[in-house]
Amino acid sequence: MGGADPKLAEPAGMPATAAEVLLAWGELRLRDLPWRAVRDRWQILVAEVMLQQTQVARVVDRWTRFLDRFPDPTSCAAAPIGAVVAEWSGLGYNRRAVYLHRTATAIVERHEGVVPGRLHDLLELPGIGPYTARAVLVFADGADVGIVDTNVARVLARWSGRRLRANEVQAMADASVPLGSGWTWNQTLLDLGAVVCRARNPACTDCPIREGCSWRGRGEDPAGGSAGVTGRQARFEGSDRQGRGRLVATLAEGPVDVDRLPLVMGWSDDPGRAHRVAAALVADGLAVTDGRYWLLP
Ligand code: ADE
Repeated sequence: MGGADPKLAEPAGMPATAAEVLLAWGELRLRDLPWRAVRDRWQILVAEVMLQQTQVARVVDRWTRFLDRFPDPTSCAAAPIGAVVAEWSGLGYNRRAVYLHRTATAIVERHEGVVPGRLHDLLELPGIGPYTARAVLVFADGADVGIVDTNVARVLARWSGRRLRANEVQAMADASVPLGSGWTWNQTLLDLGAVVCRARNPACTDCPIREGCSWRGRGEDPAGGSAGVTGRQARFEGSDRQGRGRLVATLAEGPVDVDRLPLVMGWSDDPGRAHRVAAALVADGLAVTDGRYWLLP
């Protein structure tokens, strides 16, 4: 019987024939999004950090505005953290702004203000994980590596017809990239996940690679519980996150008197909660207080 099991010997990417069909589909249909027209690493980095937890439609204007204000790591690092947080306010998950400021500072200190072009250096930056680091290399420099966000992980798990482990998803994503097409391939997979292979109500009949898909919308969804696939976001209404967002948005306008904190956070009837959640904002580097006022750092 001899010979290694081919399934173990090589990371199974999508077969070249299916990849070609998908690439051709993408070339015709890629959404026209502003960050797709640029190749500057900082501009890509900011877009990908924003897109990780905020919908495309909400990112479009805010990305342009952010870059008008902070066109490069040097201008971002030179600003007070509070200015970056204020510019971020409304996008949600404001801690990302604190990390972006720290990353800009590290880029100035370690890389003379230029976003590095090596995976290892990118991964050393504060708050930059495998997804963002690879996305920068692919979308700014055209690297032929696979990026894995929740959309890509979902597509690959469904295609394979089984739950995948983290190393399997990444290996499969990398092995699937058609040589020389890293940029288009990854943008196409993101769009396929966003437009066709959606988390809920997937449009399998519109899918260009349905023939080879193991799942095709039938039976249990292999994406459920597969590595890299995030569940639905927790309810926002009434959440701590809502109160945090309200406070940061108000602080972006100016300092808040300590007595007004519960009101501003929407919890007039629960000042204990307001103070507890505001204290967590301090720990996250998003707010400070001198005992009389709350303000941005
Ligand atoms: N989500 C994450 N990255 C994206 C990109 N570059 N384009 C569209 N959606 C995305």
